[in-house]
Parts: sequence; structure tokens; C-alpha cells
Amino acid sequence: EAPAREGRAFPPPPATARPIDRAAWLSAYRHVRAETERRAAPLSPEDQQIQSMADASPTKWHRAHTTWFFEQFLLREHLPGYAIHDERWHYLFNSYYVAAGPRQPRIARGLITRPDAEEVTAYRRHVDRAVETLLGQAAPAALELVLPILEIGLYHEQQHQELILTDILHAFAQNPLGAVYDPGWRFPKPHGRGGAAELDRAIVQVGHAGEGFSFDNEHPRHDALILPCTIDRALVTNGQWQAFMRDGGYARADLWLSDGWIAAQEQGWEAPGYWRRDDAGWTVMTLAGCRPVEPDLPVTHISYYEADAYARWAGRDLPSEAEWEVAAGAGQLDDAFGLVWQWTRSAYTAYPGYRPLPGALGEYNGKFMANQFVLRGSSVATPEGHARLPYRNFFYPHQRWQFTGLRLAHQRA
Ligand code: AVJ
Ligand code: FE
Repeated sequence: EAPAREGRAFPPPPATARPIDRAAWLSAYRHVRAETERRAAPLSPEDQQIQSMADASPTKWHRAHTTWFFEQFLLREHLPGYAIHDERWHYLFNSYYVAAGPRQPRIARGLITRPDAEEVTAYRRHVDRAVETLLGQAAPAALELVLPILEIGLYHEQQHQELILTDILHAFAQNPLGAVYDPGWRFPKPHGRGGAAELDRAIVQVGHAGEGFSFDNEHPRHDALILPCTIDRALVTNGQWQAFMRDGGYARADLWLSDGWIAAQEQGWEAPGYWRRDDAGWTVMTLAGCRPVEPDLPVTHISYYEADAYARWAGRDLPSEAEWEVAAGAGQLDDAFGLVWQWTRSAYTAYPGYRPLPGALGEYNGKFMANQFVLRGSSVATPEGHARLPYRNFFYPHQRWQFTGLRLAHQRA
């Protein structure tokens, strides 16, 4: 199940692989750390400072928080004599770990002008040197404890790499002049062969198996019941979404969940996020600036509520996460990965018998298992090597600043 290594820096070998390949871990670490800086590189210190809403964080904060994660969970405990870069910064860059102590309120991350972006660069260097020392010096027995933490730190940093892009897009969308992150950025074309995957009634195993990395919320692997269903191979497109809009989709309360209708009214939703109407038609704010809406691209920046309303309008459903996992695992879905995260109808709850990781890292995923929905696949913003079949992403049903889209399904008799 784990992708072949083929000389690529990421993913690293399984943390349980023996003998331990220190060089492979070192290059995986450097690869991930460099990708964060690559994503931040087009952004000025002013760009890196802004927090445009409570859900989004400043680029500078992402760069520092991912660094803090290694300092807090790896170096503090596992590198003897490690000098904390600045103890006072712990408060600034702890995200939500109550067990790790008090923290800057989430909504106020953009108020931290000091340390400045250059000081955060120095913080990153300090931690990089220490992690490299730890990897070089630790005895094999110590590395056995270190590698699983290093590994989650790498996947954690990749999650923030995705957020760097989605959060700066949200910030730039607030600029009336429409700031551009990367003039060459293009949304990849879907492969859409069309047609549908047919699943028969079955009891299937879902969840993570094998040696590669997994998050705790993918466990335990367990039986799930699949009822006969049909899942579209293709993602829903902008063109299809416009048919929903023309048919009054945003104005018909009968299509909407009550909470969704309230959100749509309060937020004034009449199109996906970042869409704007001008004389020539619909345009959309992208990482390349404002562009015409392309009918053949998958619709994105929609909330769960919108995905649900669209499915009801179409007389269809969203797939469950188990249905998605079975169909994608059999190679039956087009663009399962790499374009848009796909909303499922599955609530984000614990798999039967789930236990969070011990200690503060137990707060990573488990404590969020209320009032959110699972998304499957990955998006155009997900870094290379991060996505996996059993991966469970999750967001609140009103959120739409991520690259979120949908595919349709229905139950068969
Ligand atoms: C899984 C994307 C919802 O954004 O809070 C980052 C990822 N977890 N740091 C989030 C995450 C810890 C998480 N999501
Ligand atoms: Fe985090």
C-alpha cells in the first residue's frame, strides 16, 4: 500500500523498518522543511503577517507553529541538552494542545508582529540544526522513540503546507485589487472518463493497514457494511454547479438543511466561495488572481451544506466514507486525489475501538470528533506524497475556504 520509494525523499521509510536509514530520514526532513519555505517564498513579510479570518492563520505563524511542533514534541524530550530557542514563544505557537499549556487565542494569531518573519526563519534554522543533530547522534534504541514523532511532525508540517495556500488565498481574496500568489498557477484538468462505479452489498475492511504512516483516526481497521450503491467516477464540475444555480439552488429552502439554510442566508451565499459576477459572467479568485470560471473544472470552495443541497437537487446522495474508500481502492474513481477534497455524508466520529495517541499528541485528531464531516481524497494544494487511501480529513459543515468539492452517489435497491 505504501508508495514505492524510488529514490524520492518523501515519504520516509516506515518508522518500524530496520536497520534504520538515517540518511533517508534526514532527506525526508529536509524535503518537507524546504517545501514549506518554497510555499512561503513568494510572500512578503506583510503577506506573511495577515490573518483574514479566525479559521485561517498567517503564513508566518504556520512556519513557526510547525517548527514549535518539533521543538515541543521531539527536541524538548529527546535531544539531551537542547536549548529551547525562546521559551516565551511556546505561548505564541502552541495551536490547541491544552496539555501543553496556555496559548495565544486562535483569532489573534495575526496580531503577533514580533517575532518578525526573519526571526521565524532563524527559529526554523535553530530547530533544523537540532533535528539533524538528533538524527545523526541518537543511539538506535533512542531513535525507535524518535522516528514516530519525527514522522508525525513531517505529516503535520505537510498539513500546514496545504493551509499556507488556502489561507493566503483567503487573505488575497479580501484585497480589492486581487493579489496574485503565483501567476503560473493553474487548476489541473480532471481526467473524468465519466460513468459510475457499482458497489454490491458487502462487508469490507476500512481504515489503515500495513506499515506506512497513518494518523490515529484511521484506526482501528474494521468491518463496514456497504449497501448496493452507485458512485459517479467524475467530480461535479463548475458547469454542472451553474445549472444548480440557474435552477435557483441557492434560493430554494426545500433543498437545504436548516443549519445550512441559516448559514447561506447569513453569509449571503449565491455561488461557491471566491466566485464574483461581472458583466462577462462569473469569475473566481484563484492563486493566479481573478480568472473566468471554467465549466469543465471541478467545483471547489463549497461547504458541506452546499454539497448536500446540490446532491438533493440532483436527486442523489454524497457517498459515505466507506463507499468512497472501497471505490477508490478498486481504482474506480477518477481524480480521487489531487484536485479537490470530496465531502462525504459521514460524520467525523471515532472508528469502533478508536484510542487517541497517549499524551498531548492525543489531542491531535480525537478531540475534534464532534460536529464535523469527513472529506476524502486530497486537493491541488496537498503536497506530493501526503495523500493516502484511508486518510480522513475533516471540516465543519459551513467551512469552504479549503479546496473542497464533491462527487455524487446513490443507493440502489
Ligand atoms: C485535519 C486539516 C482539519 O487544519 O486543524 C494541523 C490539520 N492538525 N495541525 C487542521 C492539522 C494539526 C487539521 N485538519
Ligand atoms: Fe498544527
